[in-house]
Amino acid sequence: MVKIDHITLPDFPLLLAPMEDVSDPPFRVVCKHNGADLMFTEFISSEGLIRDAIKCRRKLEIFDEERPVGIQLFGGDEERLAMAAKIVDVTNPELLDINFGCPVKGIVAQGAGSGVLKDIDLMVRLTERCVRSTTLPVTVKTRLGWDDNTKNIEEVAERLQDAGIKALTIHGRTRCQMYKGEADWSLIAKVKNNPRIHIPIFGNGDIDSPQKALEYKDRYGVDGIMIGRAAIGYPWIFREIRHYLNTGEEMAPPTVAERVEVCKQHLCKSLQWKGDGAGVYAMRRHYLNYLKGLPNIKEFRTRLVTLNTVPEIEAVLDEVLRTYDGFEMERTPIQLVNYHENCLV
Ligand SMILES: Cc1cc2nc3c(=O)[nH]c(=O)nc-3n(C[C@H](O)[C@H](O)[C@H](O)COP(=O)(O)O)c2cc1C
Repeated sequence: MVKIDHITLPDFPLLLAPMEDVSDPPFRVVCKHNGADLMFTEFISSEGLIRDAIKCRRKLEIFDEERPVGIQLFGGDEERLAMAAKIVDVTNPELLDINFGCPVKGIVAQGAGSGVLKDIDLMVRLTERCVRSTTLPVTVKTRLGWDDNTKNIEEVAERLQDAGIKALTIHGRTRCQMYKGEADWSLIAKVKNNPRIHIPIFGNGDIDSPQKALEYKDRYGVDGIMIGRAAIGYPWIFREIRHYLNTGEEMAPPTVAERVEVCKQHLCKSLQWKGDGAGVYAMRRHYLNYLKGLPNIKEFRTRLVTLNTVPEIEAVLDEVLRTYDGFEMERTPIQLVNYHENCLV
């Protein structure tokens, strides 16, 4: 097993990545039920939390069934980040994660996210303040460095560990790479193999299949992996990876009944979290993802995204099940969207 402070995770845990506009509580519950071992919230602005912005407050909400959950904060000012960490503390997640990886201009310009990669002393001070301000275990997610000439993750990992973090997730790209090229895990492996490092090291970047997960586990020796884009619209990736790691065999793709079940579960959580109107509306972008691959599904999808009441939507989902029950879905490779042009983070 893997331990992050007092939190016990299974061997080689599978982590759901923090993803703005994606990793909300309903989606996290769906991922949890399909094998994710540890969740992270979308990143939350420390300034927004301090100003009590409703949008930021809502991101602190957690369903008990998705625990353990880490709340992720970003900010470039020590005092403000520490204040935000105190706010997070009272909302009772399992851990607090600091984002030192977000490459988006607006965030970098505030000296936050991966902007901090240019000033390691500041990164360490921010981390120390956070650690002192909260009773929660603090973890960090970051990138290899700012650019090709400053891949300083080995130094960063040691210094952050000394500052008191309990685990580190490394996305195998630099800030300047955004999402370009392939993630390079060789430096992540170096961090993991550094005898000075005793906290769990999680690798992140480009995992899109059970085979790749096993290959990277063996090749880079990390303590676990974090999965982002491959889970968008395909929460089954977690259970498929776990099955492959345990048995060496591919798991059958989800049946139509399982797909419909996940739609219903996601809808139910969406209603619980957002209320009836907003919950129905928020769910509309998910139907096609979950049902894609079924022939002529568009007609059903059109109805699902225009209906406004839950019984009507559930009736269409039941009709999908009746129409396609027993249909054998073909496995199609997951396409990782390249976010480097217009990425949110
Ligand atoms: C839509 C989207 C939103 C993201 N939001 C965040 C975020 O809020 N915080 C964060 O640390 N990383 C964020 N990321 C980066 C992911 O956590 C992850 O590091 C990245 O997608 C690489 O992993 P992958 O190849 O498994 O997708 C986001 C990525 C995407 C695609």
